[in-house]
Amino acid sequence: MMHIPKWPIATEREMRLLREVLESNQWGGFHEFVDRFEKLFAAFQHCQYGVSSANGTLALEMAMAAAGLGPGDEVIVPSISFISTATAVSRAGATPVFADIEPYSFNLDPERAEAAISPRTRAIMPVHFGGPLADMDRLMALAAARGLIVIEDAAHAHGSEWNGKRAGSFGLGSMFSFQNSKVMTAGEGGILLSNDAAFAERARSFANQGRETAGQGWFYHYTIGSNYRLTALQAAVLLAQLERLPEQIQVRRRNAELLAKELAGVEGLIFQQVPPQVNVHSHYLLLGRIDARKFGMSRDEFHKALTGQGIPCTPFYPHPLYGNPLYQKGGCRVEPCPVAEACVRDAFWLPNRVLMAEEETTLEIASTIRGLRS
Ligand SMILES: Cc1ncc(COP(=O)(O)O)c(C=O)c1O
Repeated sequence: MMHIPKWPIATEREMRLLREVLESNQWGGFHEFVDRFEKLFAAFQHCQYGVSSANGTLALEMAMAAAGLGPGDEVIVPSISFISTATAVSRAGATPVFADIEPYSFNLDPERAEAAISPRTRAIMPVHFGGPLADMDRLMALAAARGLIVIEDAAHAHGSEWNGKRAGSFGLGSMFSFQNSKVMTAGEGGILLSNDAAFAERARSFANQGRETAGQGWFYHYTIGSNYRLTALQAAVLLAQLERLPEQIQVRRRNAELLAKELAGVEGLIFQQVPPQVNVHSHYLLLGRIDARKFGMSRDEFHKALTGQGIPCTPFYPHPLYGNPLYQKGGCRVEPCPVAEACVRDAFWLPNRVLMAEEETTLEIASTIRGLRS
């Protein structure tokens, strides 16, 4: 059987930091570790401010609240993402507008985003799918030209860069997820990042029961907030995970390059296209598409064959976001999405732990995939 490492990974470092929290009298959101993690992670992603939360979904909801998005507003989102990208918009009372992705980057197509703009559009929410950033040159230019807010769903993009500038630092705000499968995790967790002090302050107040953070009283609430706080236990784990991230990205990068080289001549297997501007990325998912005619088997057969050989593989999402029963009932606007529809039939991903394997295992994976064609 192929030796694919388990994920997540914890070491003595996580244990030591966790013990420190457990031995303190503050296990909640006001332990010094939470503040330390927010500052370190924000700086790591080239941002000035970080507001952590119990999970990534809540960080997106904070972003919507802090941006003042609500009823009557439209937010353009890619039709391929995890559900929270859209439901954060819906929960705020605004309307998600589903636009198509590019054929091989799996990211929001700037032309399709532009075509989706209406007089009600207030924001664009690109997702950096699988790790590589969406085309931030074109999306930021589009947003500036049309006076739109950009909120980045960077749930997959820890450490990812576009021309040396890190994910999460382009828009008014951004969010990262630390859910169990992510490249940095505390089982659950999230953070909102920003370079806008007032935006970050509104987000923090919202996440902290509508308190004003500038030293007003504990029982003085100025807006309808909530409690979205990350715990110190999560922060302890995340501090350790962040220390290890750059080195793990290098391991995944090496393995992804080796797989790409070994499988370069395999007709009908097309890996995610990473734009040259993306100089580093998280390698959260190894994404690809199968051209059944050229490859000689369908995506479903490919998925079955891989998992049968002990290589974890997911046959993409079963539908674009608007195909969920929730959005079949309405509450959204759907632009034509032929690429998303095609990806649902022919795309797949391998989880990041596949790219954490030894070189020998990586070569074995490549040879297994090559073997499927003969
Ligand atoms: C693109 C994307 N956005 C948002 C989320 C939500 O994050 P969380 O699971 O931490 O709530 C996820 C995944 O979990 C995701 O993949």
